[in-house]
Amino acid sequence: MTRELKHIIYKTVIEANRKMTPGDVEKAVARSAGVDRKRVRLAVRDLVGRGELSYTYVYGTSFLERSFDRPVRLSKRIVIKPPQAPYESRPGEVVVDIVAGAAFGNGAHPTTRLVLRALDHIFGGNRCLERKAPLNGLDVGTGTGILAIALAKLGVQEVVGIDIDPCAVSESTHNVLLNGLAEQVSITNTPLEKLSSHFSVIVANIAYPTLRRMAPSLSARTEKNGLLILSGFLEPASKNLGETYCEHGFKLVREEAERGWACMTLHKRGSECP
Ligand SMILES: C[S@@+](CC[C@H](N)C(=O)[O-])C[C@H]1O[C@@H](n2cnc3c(N)ncnc32)[C@H](O)[C@@H]1O
Repeated sequence: MTRELKHIIYKTVIEANRKMTPGDVEKAVARSAGVDRKRVRLAVRDLVGRGELSYTYVYGTSFLERSFDRPVRLSKRIVIKPPQAPYESRPGEVVVDIVAGAAFGNGAHPTTRLVLRALDHIFGGNRCLERKAPLNGLDVGTGTGILAIALAKLGVQEVVGIDIDPCAVSESTHNVLLNGLAEQVSITNTPLEKLSSHFSVIVANIAYPTLRRMAPSLSARTEKNGLLILSGFLEPASKNLGETYCEHGFKLVREEAERGWACMTLHKRGSECP
């Protein structure tokens, strides 16, 4: 039962659609597994001790979350880990080293995972992308650089990550170096509107109002037949955002949601690809 109980606790924490306090977890698991709260508390302690869950502290409240102090698989092929954690990768796997810092993007948020899964999906065989190697990519709001690094490791030859936050620029630059990608990935605080290149793949995990405002600029920067992956907004906003981007020359090709957060992959209409 102890192993099963730990499994239930772990699933409860990682599948919850909101952050859970230790008390929330005890109550929910005690009820669903039919055990007393003290047993749940002891099992939680063990999961934290073994590095599977960790406590986070936000504005005076403690939460229990999946631990990123060890390698964590976030999509079929993409594994995120702290640089010091040993990991033997399997063929075809993409391993991204990320130092836990203040910038957003350690894989704990559903929106980051949604974009990584979308990238995994499109690099698993997209005929529009296959046709035009070499590819270049843009990560708008790069945070830790997690998506920019994943793009490079998935085979995008040249990647630019931009962010307006100096802390994100500093941390992502450091993460790019750690992953040995200084030649392939450049990080800058240049605003999107000031960029002039066209990109085959663009990812933007940013708040909804910013994504709406960025539609003309993101459209201008996406190559014909290129792909744009958006996340950072809640499911009810999808329809409106999808319509806005369709008005700017895109077609919705894939949608996914996790814990109420949504992600869409859009194809920029062009002459070669329907
Ligand atoms: C939700 S985080 C995403 C971080 C990372 N890309 C990920 O997916 O985990 C959004 C990031 O966008 C940055 N940001 C917000 N507005 C921006 C803008 N107008 N241009 C560039 N970056 C922006 C923030 O500083 C933050 O680092």
